This record gives sequence, structure tokens and C-alpha cells, in this order.
Amino acid sequence: MESMSAVLTTGETPFLGAYSMTQEKVRQEDKAPRENRMTVGVPFVDYARMTCRGVNVYYGEKHAINNVSIDVGRNEVLAMIGPSGCGKSTFLRCLNRMNDTVEGCRVEGDIQLDELNIYDKSVDVVPLRAQVGMVFQKPNPFPKSIYDNVAYGPKIHGLASSRAELDEVVESSLKKAGLWSEVSDRLDQPGTGLSGGQQQRLCIARAIAVRPEVILMDEPCSALDPIATATVEDLISELQEQYTIVIVTHNMQQAARVSQRTAYFHLGDLIEVGSTDRIFTNPRHRLTEDYITGRFG
Ligand SMILES: Nc1ncnc2c1ncn2[C@@H]1O[C@H](COP(=O)(O)OP(=O)(O)O)[C@@H](O)[C@H]1O
Ligand SMILES: [Mg+2]
Repeated sequence: MESMSAVLTTGETPFLGAYSMTQEKVRQEDKAPRENRMTVGVPFVDYARMTCRGVNVYYGEKHAINNVSIDVGRNEVLAMIGPSGCGKSTFLRCLNRMNDTVEGCRVEGDIQLDELNIYDKSVDVVPLRAQVGMVFQKPNPFPKSIYDNVAYGPKIHGLASSRAELDEVVESSLKKAGLWSEVSDRLDQPGTGLSGGQQQRLCIARAIAVRPEVILMDEPCSALDPIATATVEDLISELQEQYTIVIVTHNMQQAARVSQRTAYFHLGDLIEVGSTDRIFTNPRHRLTEDYITGRFG
């Protein structure tokens, strides 16, 4: 209840897949002022895959994420935007406990994947990071063959009991990642020999191969050219049918193209959450407005 009271709701329908396009514009004088640091909009959804409540992250003394509460809806693409250093990557890494690997980083609060409290002491992070997979800014294939890049996860997680099954997982993962037709005749060649866009799709295939439920992407296109970016964006839209996706992007057009909901962060605070459509046309917080109109960041 406490986290709910920290939210200024302004009558937006929570995420259900459809939004009214005919909302009235919020008048300038009714927008939340810049000094307001409570989350504006609707951070919670009816069909949550992940729920985050009162999340704080510290790097030593530095308070990098301040009391963030938000849901990630089932089969949605949630975009996280905001100026450099606002905490997007830090928050994303909370969702699969990747911050555990960062020296001096401390995460507080409650994060659940369905019914599982992912910070519970009994949780093994290895299967958790398969369930909540991650794709990084710079494509990082292993120095192995294309085949082995995709087969590695299923092997260590025991998801294939024979070579034939493994072949099947590799093929279906590469197909889902939209890469199969480009690499099916050279699976034994090194993954690092592919183009940047192909490498990023290989990394997506690698994440898919271990049957994730949620895929986290941290600026997955920032090292790609516009054509490779378009291919990956199309892929994100296709993957959404089967997976829940959280994508960090500094590219607002990209957020508008691929996501249904957008979260705007500013200096560690979650400032505003809402349908992507609404955030970009009718922001309710002045800081969001400053950012999307290019006045800040
Ligand atoms: N490993 C770290 N140690 C100390 N401070 C960090 C570390 N990683 C990030 N930070 C700080 O936390 C804040 C948020 O960083 P980050 O999550 O990387 O922002 P973003 O992804 O939005 O650019 C920044 O002030 C950054 O300097
Ligand atoms: Mg970042």
C-alpha cells in the first residue's frame, strides 16, 4: 500500500494491450513539477510477469536507484529511457541479479518473477539468469563456433539429452532470432566472424536457447548500423509474442517503435511510467517533457 500511495495516478488505464488514443492533453499547469520525485502515471499492470517494489541500489555510498516500484507486464515490451547515468542499466541488472557480480553493489527491496522472490537466499542465480536472459550493448559472442554459442547454454542447463535434440534447439533458436537462413551452412564457423548485427542476433539466439521467460536488453542496437538496427527491432516485435522484454534505449524513436510501455528515469528516480504512445505525446511530468523534447540529456 505504501508504494501505491507514492504514485500520483492521473486516470490512465493500466496496461491491458489497448489504450485510448483520445485522451485529453494534460494542461501545462497540471503537469508534475520538476522537483516532484514521486512516480507519475501507472507503473503497475494487471498481468505482471515481474513486480518490483521499493527497489534501492547502492554502489558503496552512492545511492543509484531510489525507491523504484514498477511491474513488467506479460508479453509486453517495456522501454526504459532517461539521460546517461540515470540508472537504467543498474535497474535492468536488478531484474536478473546481475548486480551481484558488481563489486560494492547492494540491492534492497522486493523483486518477484511470478511468485518467486528472486533475491531469496535459496535462489540459484544460474537458472535465474537463464529464465531472465540478458543481451548487452556490445554483441559478445563466445570465441566458439556459431553452433556452440547457441548450444552452450542448453548443454550446461541440461536442456537437451542427445545430439539430435541439441541440433533441434540450435536450429529453432537461430530461426527465432531470424538468423538461421544466414548461417545454416556455416554453423561450425566462429561466431565472432559474423557482422555486428548478426552477432547481436546470435546473442539473442543464445539467450532464447535456454527457454527464458523474460529477456533484458541493454541498448542492444547502439553498436549497430541502421539496417542491422531495423532487423533487431523487427525481431523484438516478433519475440514479444512469446517473451516479456525490457529494453533500455537512449534512442527515443526506438522506444516509440518497439515498446508498449515506457519508463522514464532521472538521477535514480522513476519519474513517469505509461503507455509509450502517451509518454511521447502527452507526458505528465515536466522532467519527462524536458527529455522527450530534447531540453535535457
Ligand atoms: N560499478 C559501478 N560503481 C560505481 N558506480 C556505478 C557503477 N555502475 C554505475 N554506477 C553509477 O550509477 C549511476 C547509474 O549508472 P547506470 O546504471 O550505468 O546509468 P545508465 O545506464 O542510465 O547510463 C551513475 O551515476 C553511475 O556512475
Ligand atoms: Mg547504461
